[in-house]
Amino acid sequence: MAAGTVRTQMPDVTPWKDTTLRRSEEAARQARQAVNAWLAHSHASVRFDMLQVVSELVSNAIKHVPAGPQRDWLRVRLGVGADFVRLEVIDPGTSQPQPCFAPLRLSSLEVSGRGLGIVAALSVRCGTHLVDHGHRVVWADLADTRRALPAVREPAGRALSP
Ligand SMILES: Nc1ncnc2c1ncn2[C@@H]1O[C@H](COP(=O)(O)OP(=O)(O)OP(=O)(O)O)[C@@H](O)[C@H]1O
Ligand SMILES: [Mg+2]
Repeated sequence: MAAGTVRTQMPDVTPWKDTTLRRSEEAARQARQAVNAWLAHSHASVRFDMLQVVSELVSNAIKHVPAGPQRDWLRVRLGVGADFVRLEVIDPGTSQPQPCFAPLRLSSLEVSGRGLGIVAALSVRCGTHLVDHGHRVVWADLADTRRALPAVREPAGRALSP
């Protein structure tokens, strides 16, 4: 397994929404706004959890990935699976550090190092891997068992849900 990969099985999704944000202190809020609008018609619990997850992942991309020329961006994508919705946050990548999905320890009083544990707790599966140009994808699948997302159409026009 390539360094920097936390590979759990990734079921297929249909790409649905995609935005690229400028790296800034505003990025987490902008990402929440985008996701909130995309999921406006979804069940409130899916939207609520997804807002938490996107906050954690975008904050991490700002906090842990060095800035630099041609690195002032991050990308947020949503995809729709059979009974889940996938969030992906893509950043310009770095060799160190690498995302660490440590389980939350309820007894711990530590006030940092919790974000990805929260993501893991809210999702049915999550992971990270590197793609072309060393860019990093950190992703999480959230259950959408109520199939509450609006109909998503494949490029060919076939309605996937509900
Ligand atoms: N996109 C990323 N690229 C590289 N390393 C990352 C990335 N996201 C997280 N990490 C690494 O994984 C660790 C765990 O991330 P996590 O979000 O759980 O904690 P944190 O960001 O350090 O603290 P908190 O989220 O509680 O403020 C980070 O400390 C960092 O070393
Ligand atoms: Mg964090």
